[in-house]
Amino acid sequence: MKENRLPQTVIPAEICCAQDYEYLAGHFLAADRLAYIAGGCGHETTLTANRAAFDATSIWPRLLCDVAHGHTAFELFGRRWAHPILLAPVAYQTLAHPQGEIEVARGAAATDSGFVLSTLAGRTLEDVAVHAGEERWFQLYFQSERRHTLDLVQRAEAAGYRVLVVTLDTAIKLPSLRAQRAGFTMPAAVVAANLANYPEAAGRSIERGQSRVFQGVMAQAPSWADLDWLLAQTRLPVVVKGVLHPQDALRMKKRGVAGLVVSNHGGRSLDGVPASLAVLPAIRAAVGDDYPLLLDSGIRSGGDVFKALALGADAVLIGRLQTYALAVAGALGVAHLLRLLREELEVCMAQAGCATLADIGPAMIFRQTGEETGC
Ligand SMILES: Cc1cc2nc3c(=O)[nH]c(=O)nc-3n(C[C@H](O)[C@H](O)[C@H](O)COP(=O)(O)O)c2cc1C
Repeated sequence: MKENRLPQTVIPAEICCAQDYEYLAGHFLAADRLAYIAGGCGHETTLTANRAAFDATSIWPRLLCDVAHGHTAFELFGRRWAHPILLAPVAYQTLAHPQGEIEVARGAAATDSGFVLSTLAGRTLEDVAVHAGEERWFQLYFQSERRHTLDLVQRAEAAGYRVLVVTLDTAIKLPSLRAQRAGFTMPAAVVAANLANYPEAAGRSIERGQSRVFQGVMAQAPSWADLDWLLAQTRLPVVVKGVLHPQDALRMKKRGVAGLVVSNHGGRSLDGVPASLAVLPAIRAAVGDDYPLLLDSGIRSGGDVFKALALGADAVLIGRLQTYALAVAGALGVAHLLRLLREELEVCMAQAGCATLADIGPAMIFRQTGEETGC
C-alpha cells in the first residue's frame, strides 16, 4: 500500500494531546512515507538522544503562585509574537497532504504562529505566501550556483518573507536507513517546486584516488565566505539553522548573523551528534543573554517547549509533529496541534510559577545532584 489515507475534515476524537498526532499519523501516512518522515539518519542514535534529553529534564513546580495575569507573548526580531512556537522547515510536505505547505501556512496563520517554508517545499514560495500570515520565514539551502541562491533570496523578499533561515548542517545528505529499508522512493509527483527553474549543476567529478567526500561533496559545500556573501545580499535578518557548537555560534554572531537555531535536523544530519537540548546551555552561555536563539529536534509537547525555554531558547521550532498533524487533518490539524502545544506550555508555566516567558529560566529545571536546595 503506497497511498495515504485522505486527511479528515474534523479533529479525530483520539487526539487528546499534541503527541497523539505522532501516534495517529501511522493510520494516515503510507508506511514508506512515514518511514521517510519519522526516520533519522544512520542508526538513529541522535534521534533517540533528542527524546532522551527531554525525558531526562524535569520541571520543578511551585505552589500558590499568582499567574492570573500570565501570557505567552514575547518580542523577537523587533516584533511582538503571541507565543514562541514556530513551525520548522520541512521538505516535500505534499508527501503528507495534497496541498502540502499551503495547508501548513493556513494552520499557522489561524493560530498567530510563525512558520518557516523549506527551499524544498512541494509548493512554490509565491503560492504559499498567498495563504500565509505575516510571520512567514523562508529557509534557504545554498544552491550550487550563486545566481540561483540569489534568485531564491530575492523571490522570498518579494513574497514578503521576513527572515531567512539558512540551514548549514546538511552539506552531506545522509540517507535514512529506515526509509531505505521501507522501500521509500520520492514519488514522481512530489517535487521541490521552488527549484523548478534552476537546472541541477553537474556533480563535481573526482580523480582516481580522490575522496568522494572531501574532493567531491565538500568541495562544493557552503563556506564562511558564502555566508558573508549572503549577508551582503539581503536586507532580511539571516538566522543560521543547524548550530551545535558554541564556537560556531559565537563566530556566527560576530559575523552579523541575526540569530541561530540550535538543531541537529531532528536527528537527520549526522548520527552520533549530541541532542540539541544538551548543547543549548553552552550555546546560550557563549552568545550571551540577548542574542536570539531558537531550538528544535525532539519537541513533542508543550512541556518540552517549556524545558527548551528554561535552558536558554527564546522560541522553538516544531518539525515532524506538524507533518503528522497535516496528514491527519490538514490545516485544521496543524492549527489544532499549535493550540494544544501552546496550552500545554501554558499549563507548565502556570505550575512552575511563570506568568511570562521572561520568568522561565534554569531555576525551573530540577537536576538530581543529591544536594538539592533550590535556594
Ligand atoms: C521529513 C523532514 C524534512 C525536513 N526538511 C528540512 C528542510 O527542507 N530544511 C531544513 O532546514 N530542515 C528540514 N528538516 C528538519 C526540521 O526543520 C527540524 O530541524 C526537525 O524536524 C526538528 O526535529 P523534530 O522533527 O523532532 O521536531 C526536515 C525534517 C523532516 C522530518
